[in-house]
Amino acid sequence: MTKKILILAGDGIGPEIMQEAVKVLQFVNDQENLGLELEQALLGGCAIDATGGPLPEATLKLAKEADSILLAAVGGPKWEPLPIANRPEKGLLGIRSALELFANLRPAILYPQLASASSLKPELVAGLDILIVRELVGGMYFGKPRGIRTLENGEREGFNTLTYKESEIERIGRIGFEMARKRNKKLCSVDKANVLEATELWREIMTKLNKEYPDVQLSHMYVDNAAMQLIRAPKQFDVMVTENMFGDILSDAAAMLTGSIGMLPSASLDKTGKGMYEPCHGSAPDIAGKGVANPLATILSAAMMLRYSLNQGRVADRIEQAVSTVLDQGYRTGDIFTEGTQKVGTAQMGEAVLNALKAQK
Ligand code: IPM
Ligand code: MG
Repeated sequence: MTKKILILAGDGIGPEIMQEAVKVLQFVNDQENLGLELEQALLGGCAIDATGGPLPEATLKLAKEADSILLAAVGGPKWEPLPIANRPEKGLLGIRSALELFANLRPAILYPQLASASSLKPELVAGLDILIVRELVGGMYFGKPRGIRTLENGEREGFNTLTYKESEIERIGRIGFEMARKRNKKLCSVDKANVLEATELWREIMTKLNKEYPDVQLSHMYVDNAAMQLIRAPKQFDVMVTENMFGDILSDAAAMLTGSIGMLPSASLDKTGKGMYEPCHGSAPDIAGKGVANPLATILSAAMMLRYSLNQGRVADRIEQAVSTVLDQGYRTGDIFTEGTQKVGTAQMGEAVLNALKAQK
């Protein structure tokens, strides 16, 4: 049976890193007869240039029809002068929202080979394996009313709204508990319940849900403390579940503990398990077009896609193993380079992963 995969290369370093991920996908597709059919579409800045909007109808249609989606990154300085409602990021948020991809899974795993690239002492991060479960289609990102208005005295005021319905909290809470159950059974729910009513409700619902998952040890933490604890003693965490904006911020911090945000994949899933997979990093316009970006997070996102949406866990293992092999071999892009390793560019890194895959059989 064929499976349709929509490829969204996006902007900045997107096309370069996606090229390597597509080579890897095509290789396993051929070798393992996966029946994947890859299609490409425009999202973000490239879509604005070509069609006038960040999420063209054609892209949304393909995204709805696809079995899963692989995205690199969107955005860049070229489109920053545009009003927020027309920016590349709106394309990404639009697709998340239109497909109801409410569950964003962001693992922060330290590859032992990269311990010295972490900003923390090796003993604090050795063996680090955290999963951040971020709510992705609610909260401040989507709450209404929003905008910039002019007050009676002529001064302008920007405003956004943080809202969460019980049902929205419950469905992401369940994902947190389910994930914890599959791992070390520890779930930390992050909120700001001492100040924000929306997250007071969040805490209440999480506590109630815990009754259905008595085997999972639930704790609550305020987001400021969670940020501090992530930097102080990150290994205390197993699964963290949190609202959209807190998750955006905490996942960047957690990523850095692992050496580089250039290593981390993510999955955004709907209630049926259909998903969009993307690296946690952005479009890195400063290094775009130079052939130096790290393609591993996108390659690992493809592996995650095979595991979670396409039921190909063994093939996902193969890709993850190949990534580990190239790190053992000492290949490093600039973001993970340390003394004594070999600095390579985007295409060489992709090639190294392909070679490692070929050597497996
Ligand atoms: C992320 C990104 C996006 C977000 C941006 C590009 C809209 O930072 O996926 O974490 O804020 O969700
Ligand atoms: Mg972010």
